[in-house]
Amino acid sequence: MKILVTGGAGFIGSNFIRHMLLECNDVEIVNFDKLTYSGNLENLADLAENSRYQFVRGDITDATSVAEVMAQGLDAIVNFAAETHVDRSIENAAPFLHSNVMGTLTVLEAVRKFRIKLFIQISTDEVYGSAGANDSFTEDQILDPRSPYSASKAAADHLVNAYAHTYGVAAITLRCTNNYGPYQFPEKLIPLMIANALEGKPLPVYGDGMQERDWLYVEDYCRAIACVLKTGKPGEVYNVSSGTPTANLVVIKTILKMLGKPESLIQFVTDRPGHDRRYSLDSSKLRRELGWKPEVIFEEGIGRTVDWYRKNQLWLQRARSGEYRNYYERHYTRREETFTKAGTKS
Ligand code: NAD
Ligand code: TYD
Repeated sequence: MKILVTGGAGFIGSNFIRHMLLECNDVEIVNFDKLTYSGNLENLADLAENSRYQFVRGDITDATSVAEVMAQGLDAIVNFAAETHVDRSIENAAPFLHSNVMGTLTVLEAVRKFRIKLFIQISTDEVYGSAGANDSFTEDQILDPRSPYSASKAAADHLVNAYAHTYGVAAITLRCTNNYGPYQFPEKLIPLMIANALEGKPLPVYGDGMQERDWLYVEDYCRAIACVLKTGKPGEVYNVSSGTPTANLVVIKTILKMLGKPESLIQFVTDRPGHDRRYSLDSSKLRRELGWKPEVIFEEGIGRTVDWYRKNQLWLQRARSGEYRNYYERHYTRREETFTKAGTKS
């Protein structure tokens, strides 16, 4: 099975590529990524020479390069590529609309043209908006996005639905809660808090820190995507979650305790505008219909995560300083020259 992964140099995409190459001997992966600030090829350095892995630098909004990469014959596409940080979307929404909406549209058009058998859209729980204290949203919840990021992801979901309905594109949409684990860009809550704590810097907590996220260990999400690739039903939407929403302050205090750092590092700062209070998803459809369930409870997952960043401080330091950006020039420029127009290595 040959799978095109867009955005595979980012956090979840790189974990997914590693999961698929290690778990499935019959899978080939083409990673198509623009390498924005959050695309880090060091996440996949150990797999760069794997004969079943290929990297192609490209932008999902560029119809020509999307068509080139698809022309090599693919069985499925998993579309992770997106602008993903809510705070950046509040600063400037335009890149989010461009990549997340126009990019998804461009990929969908190519999926239609090349008659790709399965397209998986990696959406988010944030499209449902903020959940009340006792809510746990199912797939039929009306979308109510509240940030420019979630609005762009919801627009993409509607396009996916439209292409499935109008053109018969075989598409599945996955809406997952916040992931955590290795290789997450250290602007997001968990790696940022670990990095700051390791350096003895203040940990900025927005508002009262009592916002809740339904944290899922990234390896559990990778297993869910693999499961959907195998037995998911085209036309369906599946929620993915751990089902255990946890307050930010609880997460932060757990990290500090694991690192042996004082709670005095916590610094309450001005809240994020329009900050969604709580995310909580009901993933019983995926559990019931495809037999998936999360295997890593939060206490274990956060332990593994803190350990990983502690042991990979060079990765963290290179991600924070921007040094990771020269990886592509050092390792890939020559290799890409041998990549023909038809998308096959010469
Ligand atoms: P990330 O920011 O770590 O990675 C995004 C990747 O997409 C980067 O490698 C980047 O270079 C690439 N990219 C961005 N724009 C592109 C473009 N125009 N063309 C090609 N590549 C482009 O993000 P992530 O956390 O790995 O998220 C991956 C997907 O999962 C996103 O679609 C996001 O909305 C969704 N998601 C993430 C979470 C989470 O907790 N991280 C939760 C739910 C859903
Ligand atoms: P984030 O990792 O940005 O994910 P999202 O906003 O997509 O859920 O943030 C997770 C939670 O942590 C969210 O409630 C905002 C909060 N947060 C902080 O309190 N401080 C920070 O520095 C960051 C980045 C996030």
